[in-house]
Amino acid sequence: MNVLDVMRIGPVIPVIVIEDLAHAVPLAKALVAGGVRVLEVTLRSPVALEAIRAIAREAPDAIVGAGTLTRPEDFANALAAGARFGVSPGLTPSLIDAARQTGLPLLPGVMTPSDVIAARLAGFQQLKLFPAQQAGGIGMLRALAGPFPAVMFCPTGGVSADNAPDFLALSNVACVGGSWLAPKAAMEMGDWNAVTELAKQASRLTPRGANPA
Ligand code: 3PG
Repeated sequence: MNVLDVMRIGPVIPVIVIEDLAHAVPLAKALVAGGVRVLEVTLRSPVALEAIRAIAREAPDAIVGAGTLTRPEDFANALAAGARFGVSPGLTPSLIDAARQTGLPLLPGVMTPSDVIAARLAGFQQLKLFPAQQAGGIGMLRALAGPFPAVMFCPTGGVSADNAPDFLALSNVACVGGSWLAPKAAMEMGDWNAVTELAKQASRLTPRGANPA
């Protein structure tokens, strides 16, 4: 499965922070029950790799990836834990090497046209615009479609249930990323039905860029 395959599975990739390992599998199952199969578990907490391992083992319908890859060693660790793809907030030569060496499909973050040029030169055509809203949001994505018509984006950062439809209406957006599908309060309360409901709403969104004519 390559990155474009992953981006086309659903309109929203939840950006997940697991603080309590016991939340990982119920959260993944709640999201899958709502139709959201692609999950990005960020390497921002001590239990993140264990959470990926648990989801890969116990939620077989989920396609779990590792987010916040910022160090070369994160790639091998993520792969060993069972991650099927990786997401990084930016791209550097050492991260490019790590992606090549491990073969972990990578959705790298960009914020400027120069970032897009560098990522394309390294062989990446599917990019995460991060932080999307701060980078210029909808207007920025429209502007980037001019010089980079073949690049597909997953805007992440400041995307919400309210503005996701506007992002997904753009021809160069295959999916969006956001943390609103895994709210901290619902996880702490074990309100997995609320998570499933959010996932159902997100699954109903239709990306225009996911299946270009
Ligand atoms: C992140 O890396 O934290 C993502 O950009 C999530 O951003 P959000 O909380 O604005 O969805």
